[in-house]
Amino acid sequence: MSTEKSNKTVAVVGLGYVGLPLLLLASRSGYKAVGFDIDTRKIDLLKQKKSPFVDNFIEKELKETSFDVTGDFSQINSADIVILCVPTPVYENHMPNLEPLEGACRSIAPFIKSGQLVILESTVNPGVSDEIVIPLLEKESGLKGGKDFYFAHCPERINPGDAEWNIKNINRVVGSIEPIGLEMACSFYRSIISGEIKPMGSLKEAEAVKIVENSFRDVNIAFVNELAMSFSHLGIDVLRVIEGAATKPFAFMAHFPGCGVGGHCIPVDPYYLIQYAEKNGFSHRFLALARDINNGMPKFTANRAVEAIKRKGIDPFGAKVAVLGLSYKADIDDCRESPAFQIIKELEKDGLKVSAFDPFVPERSTASSLDDAVDGSAAIVLATAHTQFRGLKPSYFLDKGVDVLIDGRNCFSKEEFLAAGIKYEGVGR
Ligand SMILES: NC(=O)c1ccc[n+]([C@@H]2O[C@H](COP(=O)([O-])OP(=O)(O)OC[C@H]3O[C@@H](n4cnc5c(N)ncnc54)[C@H](O)[C@@H]3O)[C@@H](O)[C@H]2O)c1
Repeated sequence: MSTEKSNKTVAVVGLGYVGLPLLLLASRSGYKAVGFDIDTRKIDLLKQKKSPFVDNFIEKELKETSFDVTGDFSQINSADIVILCVPTPVYENHMPNLEPLEGACRSIAPFIKSGQLVILESTVNPGVSDEIVIPLLEKESGLKGGKDFYFAHCPERINPGDAEWNIKNINRVVGSIEPIGLEMACSFYRSIISGEIKPMGSLKEAEAVKIVENSFRDVNIAFVNELAMSFSHLGIDVLRVIEGAATKPFAFMAHFPGCGVGGHCIPVDPYYLIQYAEKNGFSHRFLALARDINNGMPKFTANRAVEAIKRKGIDPFGAKVAVLGLSYKADIDDCRESPAFQIIKELEKDGLKVSAFDPFVPERSTASSLDDAVDGSAAIVLATAHTQFRGLKPSYFLDKGVDVLIDGRNCFSKEEFLAAGIKYEGVGR
């Protein structure tokens, strides 16, 4: 640990999926690390070195790393670098909800001091740093951004549950209002991560990078979701087609269809750009259409189950259906924007009785176990490809008298299930 680092304090504001790994990494890298949050339950858990969410790596790191956590924002004053990692969700009407970010700015601003570097890691649309965050910090602190304190944006790219890419090795982009803040931020990230750091020409460019990355994913997923819906009419297996197209060594990148897009990023971030561009006189038809298509996938998936039950001669009204998986992706407990809940709503609209089970989310499961969910069900809808579910064999379902499986993640072998006598349907196959 260099003497320089050990004298410096990094304050991380917002200790969630993004902020907590960052706090631990800063400490591991030799900084004095102090975490801030408004959630007192989370602060208590962290003081006991317990993770507020399921993550084996974080659980281990918490035990082995030294850090402080507090809800007392006056301690911001003792930090050299303050990093904002608070949520940036959307309201029900899809308008950006900047309340947590504005709240965090108001909490830290009175304690910002000269020479401090403030970094925004939360995902925001271009313009939020220049038009909202910096003015708020300046107004409440009486200091001038880029002169008295420095400001940079370095959007986080962490991908929870990814074994290969993590907070330490993912490349980063950084934008600022002036060269000193830019260099301070780049040098900080160089001191904690092994990935490349790319300085951007402005805050707006750095903000746009993150939104573009996630919009790229959203539109590509929408494209294959549309193919899946089309191919289910045409009797073509979309998965095989994507696998075939992916043999082309250039100019094709495989994306896969599914029962819906979840999480705090992909189904949220495009709305930030859509709304900001709209305010500035441009209408993003393409991004809006992608959102629309992806938002329709839970209904498409639920309809498959209802139709399959009807084909068996069973009245869906009052029939039991099991939904396996509630979190938005495999082997994690994050349920934000998860399509599973939309699928459940759609099934219930049709009068089905839903029994939901997720081993990572027991508090929101209505069944006490996998067996409890599956027993007596007219159909199964797999919404999340947890490892526990992926290992299930056709005989497991058949032994329980279930022969309809809607595979919302295309994670089972269609051939194996069909050969065993299960009425298998994937998304577009
Ligand atoms: N989750 C991801 O995979 C991911 C990946 C990349 C970027 N991001 C972005 O990072 C940001 C944070 O996301 P997250 O998933 O870590 O969110 P999160 O909900 O897991 O954590 C945010 C934390 O901020 C706290 N908080 C809320 N308002 C606060 C305030 N005013 N002051 C202090 N703390 C406050 C919350 O209590 C919570 O603990 C978002 O902008 C998100 O888009 C998330």
